[in-house]
Amino acid sequence: MDLKLRLWLPWTVMLVVGLATYGYYLYLDPESCGSFLGCRSSIVNADFPRIEEGNESTIPVNGERRIAVCLVGGARMFEITGRTLRKHLLDVYNNTDVFLHSPLDKDSHKFSHLRGGNLRAAKIFVPSVLPESRITNELITAWGSPHGMQGLLQYFNLVEGCYGMVKQYEVKHKFKYDWIIRTRVDGFWSSRLPEIGQLDPNYYYVAAGNDFHGLNDRFGMGSPHTSRAANMRLSLLPQMHKAGYRGLNSESAYKAQFQISGVAWKRIQIPFCIMTLRNEMYPPPPYGLLMLSMASEGPMSGTYCRPCDKEANATFSATIVDGCMRDWDWPGVEGNRVTVCDGRQPWAANWREIADNVYKRHLNSSEGIPNFQSRTVAECTREMQEFQSQWEIWDSPSPQSICQKSLSK
Ligand SMILES: *[C@@H]1O[C@H](CO)[C@@H](O)[C@H](O)[C@H]1NC(C)=O
Ligand SMILES: *[C@@H]1O[C@H](CO)[C@@H](O)[C@H](O)[C@H]1NC(C)=O
Ligand SMILES: *[C@@H]1O[C@H](CO)[C@@H](O)[C@H](O)[C@H]1NC(C)=O
Ligand SMILES: *[C@@H]1O[C@H](CO)[C@@H](O)[C@H](O)[C@H]1NC(C)=O
Repeated sequence: MDLKLRLWLPWTVMLVVGLATYGYYLYLDPESCGSFLGCRSSIVNADFPRIEEGNESTIPVNGERRIAVCLVGGARMFEITGRTLRKHLLDVYNNTDVFLHSPLDKDSHKFSHLRGGNLRAAKIFVPSVLPESRITNELITAWGSPHGMQGLLQYFNLVEGCYGMVKQYEVKHKFKYDWIIRTRVDGFWSSRLPEIGQLDPNYYYVAAGNDFHGLNDRFGMGSPHTSRAANMRLSLLPQMHKAGYRGLNSESAYKAQFQISGVAWKRIQIPFCIMTLRNEMYPPPPYGLLMLSMASEGPMSGTYCRPCDKEANATFSATIVDGCMRDWDWPGVEGNRVTVCDGRQPWAANWREIADNVYKRHLNSSEGIPNFQSRTVAECTREMQEFQSQWEIWDSPSPQSICQKSLSK
């Protein structure tokens, strides 16, 4: 009896002390804030409005707001998306300045299709491996990311780099943009950007749906102040790690950026989809990915899409969309406004014909999707040179080397 008691006592004391220490680090240590509800109250609930001191918006030039558009990513789909971006995003408002940040690859030559006005700074760069650290490995999970941890870091770098180009341009020309819009070059736009005059600069606007447990990170726009929180995708990682966030995917990392920065967001429906060559299960299983037809009528808010030869009928399409997980691949609209595509197989052999129909309708043009494969290096170089001359800042390889790269398949 005596012996048992003597053994029991120290064990209990050790257990209590152990639990108390564990609890302290779990709930009370400021380093752990953010991962547990006990600390959450110190983090602004970003779904509620929060007015910042000094909106930082400047007096617009000529009584108009100034808008910067950051285009990021590779040009793989640019023959389909390029002119739609031009019509529905870049040419909608006066005083829209265009910035391009893209890794050099065999598709870069397709950017000549972006030709037009207001081209400010282009940076097509030779990609290099980005350093991974203990912080990135604990903070970010590459689960579900098609190109793993490097793919995510490269994407973050594209976004933050483009934002940096806008900031540099502001310093050089001594003014500030009223709105900074950021989106991907593989977006197919089916209708124009929502009316900017209706938006409140105290919020950052993200595309509705496609949340994947966080916030849709395929489009965003806001004032210089809110854009900072949205676009500093690499620089904010250490702060997020310190705040206790762990195991985030791209979308939940995006959400965490707003939370730690105390910036409020709103979701709006944006009329574009991301053109992709991926095949997806049909109908999408839980934690699957929805695939839409690029011919869909409603705003697709950055959902994946393709020229579709196997569209679901209206009833079935609506059933699939309304059954999507709201916090995952739901596209942010009612099911009867978009058309689901059976994307289990690769693109149809006649994809060009299918895509041309939609393309001509949206652009109100008789000209279809260009065929860049038929362009010689000399033709490409000539068009690329003309394109280069339209930019104020061309921090990119020579037109000739970009065109030569297109042949080295
Ligand atoms: C910030 O913006 C809001 C709404 O646009 C406005 O009512 C408020 O006066 C602005 N605050 C400052 C300090 O400019
Ligand atoms: C855009 O600029 C043109 C020419 O400078 C002007 O005529 C037009 O009224 C402007 N549009 C808007 C919406 O301010
Ligand atoms: C729509 O498609 C579903 C699934 O393929 C099918 O069961 C249904 O009969 C179709 N409805 C109509 C009206 O064609
Ligand atoms: C489409 O283009 C035609 C001819 O270029 C023009 O007459 C018509 O107004 C345009 N329609 C729209 C909706 O822009």
